[in-house]
Amino acid sequence: MQQIIDFIKELYKNKNPVQLHEPVFLGNEKKYVNDCIDTTFVSSVGKYVDRFEEMIANYTGSARAVACVNGTNALYLALKLTGVEQSDEVITQSLTFIATVNAIVHCNAKPVFVDVDRDTMGLSPKKMNEWLENNAKLENNQCVDCNTGNRIKACVPMHTFGHPVHIEELIDICAKWRIELIEDAAESIGSFYKGKHTGTFGHVGVLSFNGNKTITTGGGGMLLFQEKKQGELAKHLMTQAKILHKWEFKHDAIGYNYRMPNINAALGCAQMENIEMFLNSKRETAMKYKRFLSNIGMRFFDEPRDCKSNFWLSCLILSDKEEQIRFLTETNSNGVMTRPIWELMNRLPMFAQCQCGDLTNAEWFADRAVNLPSGFRNGDKVK
Ligand SMILES: Cc1ncc(COP(=O)(O)O)c(C=O)c1O
Repeated sequence: MQQIIDFIKELYKNKNPVQLHEPVFLGNEKKYVNDCIDTTFVSSVGKYVDRFEEMIANYTGSARAVACVNGTNALYLALKLTGVEQSDEVITQSLTFIATVNAIVHCNAKPVFVDVDRDTMGLSPKKMNEWLENNAKLENNQCVDCNTGNRIKACVPMHTFGHPVHIEELIDICAKWRIELIEDAAESIGSFYKGKHTGTFGHVGVLSFNGNKTITTGGGGMLLFQEKKQGELAKHLMTQAKILHKWEFKHDAIGYNYRMPNINAALGCAQMENIEMFLNSKRETAMKYKRFLSNIGMRFFDEPRDCKSNFWLSCLILSDKEEQIRFLTETNSNGVMTRPIWELMNRLPMFAQCQCGDLTNAEWFADRAVNLPSGFRNGDKVK
């Protein structure tokens, strides 16, 4: 244990305590934010919003990217735009951050928890298909839950810690069962599956730029669309569904105030200018962990086959719950911030009544996975 603590302290020599992840501003952040203040364009319109959306659309290869106040609201809007309605069911993984599930419940829809795969930590295509085979049927070209009679409208896989799920297989299963696919790519900017950016496979994909993510806008999210028209609709709805006019206040739907302010987008533009620097640092840190941990006989969670992970948070797999607790206790009381993987969603009181499939792998990770400090290391000077 002490060996790992010493290694991490050496890796982050100038940090005490060593944080899990901190935002870093080394580029044009101040210049662009000052520009917003100087020009008074601090709110929901401005050149940085447009520029940031374009930068993300280009980087991810999306037809349209739409900036949003945060990832959670972006997910909610993505579900709404996909047609998720009251009493619909939405399949997702029990091993996720709570925002994925909150967004589903905010639509008055019902989450169904399915297992993850051991090699991705993301929604398992095999387990999802098994659950559907045992519990669902196709009726009038819709997927219906035989237990409840509810429509199963969508599925939301999440690319855990930036490791892409088996997205091609999920696409096939969704097509077979007439289920819409929405990707929670909140953690996976810079992660690619067979060369294609995560969040660009489904009907909609969502990124987060919260302060703890690979790049940050303070708070913020982005919807990724492969059809421009869908993107324009999202933008319209998140602008209180206001009809464009020089002075009139007319609205054609019940909309939302979800636009990302220009001042946040300014941060985002500056951060995007350095995305490769952030990603390179993360990968280098991950590879250092991998080498060190394998030398001392411990398991680092590596990127899945055919994938390029962003290594947002490096992850160590311990042998059992007891070791996990011991590791968390020792590291956190010695100035090294580590965190367990999330409590499984089906174990939280609010979601305890939700339907679940077999969750063997999710339970396995819950007892063993720990995140290691993964913040940017300036210049990676530590050899
Ligand atoms: C998997 C996942 N989904 C959704 C979110 C929500 O994003 P935000 O914090 O921007 O609302 C986050 C992160 O915070 C996340 O990790």
